Amino acid sequence: MEVKINIAIDGPAGAGKSTVAKKLAQRFNYVYVDTGAMYRAITWLAIQTNTDFHNEEELYALLTSTSLNMKNGANGELVLLVNNKEVTEEIRSAEVTGNVSYVAKHPKIRQEMVHKQQEIAESKGTVMDGRDIGTAVLPKAEVKFFLTASVTERAKRRHEEQVKKGMDSDYDTLVKDIAKRDKIDSEREVAPLKKAEDAMEVDTTSMSIDEVVDFLYHATVKRVGQ
Ligand code: DC
Repeated sequence: MEVKINIAIDGPAGAGKSTVAKKLAQRFNYVYVDTGAMYRAITWLAIQTNTDFHNEEELYALLTSTSLNMKNGANGELVLLVNNKEVTEEIRSAEVTGNVSYVAKHPKIRQEMVHKQQEIAESKGTVMDGRDIGTAVLPKAEVKFFLTASVTERAKRRHEEQVKKGMDSDYDTLVKDIAKRDKIDSEREVAPLKKAEDAMEVDTTSMSIDEVVDFLYHATVKRVGQ
């Protein structure tokens, strides 16, 4: 495509957003922005510094005194730096995953993150994935998708991914964790997980990653009209 646009991809945990967003960004030669990783980074730092996940003021002070940088590595993968330390692996730990929803609930934390995300998208040419991109971060994004998949399918995918990485994984626990995260993310007061009215909903339950990427690629080209 000749014009540079922003593409927003939202949806619940485990719907394949990050893998799909990363591949789509590569196809367009865009920057891939994983906003969940930003909430994970501050959660990781809160664990390191013994900051209470429920104390908004302390978390906010922590966030505003921290440098948070993201870049795409050679294969389009996300590299996340917190105060110049690479934490790409650390932010995927079970402890971070289990607590990030509490941190992401706080309005002041969200406001600061949204601001950072909007700055990144200012020059266009991003594929940004999260929960509130189409609704709150980039309400004017040229193209918006909302990816879904059944809870059991999402748990199955996460399970396979973790087994492949040699991590401990229990399918039943994953089903419960994913359902719990969905509940917290969609019931919180600020920017709950919700499809933007003008987003295209794509149910990926019976689609492969490449099928989803192809679908989004063609839908984007069609929408932008070139
Ligand atoms: O996509 P993920 O699993 O890495 O997201 C981690 C958490 O951050 C998840 O509980 C939802 C939250 N999140 C959010 O509230 N807003 C975003 N834009 C992205 C993620």
